[in-house]
Amino acid sequence: MRLDKLLSELGKATRSEGGKLIRSGKVTVNGEVIKKPDHKIDPLKDEVSLLGEVLTYKKFTYIMLNKPEGYVSATDDEREKTVLDLVSDEDRRKGLFPCGRLDKNTLGLVILTNDGDGAHKVLSPKHHVSKVYKFESKFPLSENDIKALESGVDIGGYLTKPCKIKLYSNLTSGEITLTEGKYHQIKRMLEAVNNKITYLERISFGGIVLDPTLKRGEWRYLTSEEEVIFK
Ligand code: URA
Repeated sequence: MRLDKLLSELGKATRSEGGKLIRSGKVTVNGEVIKKPDHKIDPLKDEVSLLGEVLTYKKFTYIMLNKPEGYVSATDDEREKTVLDLVSDEDRRKGLFPCGRLDKNTLGLVILTNDGDGAHKVLSPKHHVSKVYKFESKFPLSENDIKALESGVDIGGYLTKPCKIKLYSNLTSGEITLTEGKYHQIKRMLEAVNNKITYLERISFGGIVLDPTLKRGEWRYLTSEEEVIFK
């Protein structure tokens, strides 16, 4: 791989900024200053440093983000703030995108990655990856509501797949586990039983649990154990 490409893939600089950094002697390869942007390196074997910082190369990046309200799950948007805006330029690796969508006013776990195949796998309906959401509803949920929601309701021409609901004792909040993700699915499911979602937060995705130490808007890289679902 070209040295300038490595810097741009890791989100350290654009290709032309990277070229400038390299030409001005800010980059070393195995301890030696290299001034040619097209210098070929093996990103998995060579030790590349930028301004003294060793760059670690991994083909794919996986980020766990605690999404606040008011951000859209997109890579860019003309009017709205996007979940990518929560990752600083320095850490925003090329090609990062949100793996699945949360509504603008839904909070919680979003995974960002540049692994298209991995994301396709976990989002594909045939893999039945489960997602757990905490919810609050406007009105109490009855036993019949729970039965209907768990066995499947019509959300405008689509019958939802079976799901699991754990209702808290106040009957207006709980956890719902889905293995699919239709547009506004939970909101539409509650509407199907004449109720309304007033709070929605994703707390788990494919067994990856939202890290309680992350405040809203904060993120961290997935651990290698957590990354396994993408492999
Ligand atoms: N269901 C919804 O209605 N909204 C979300 O953001 C996620 C699931």
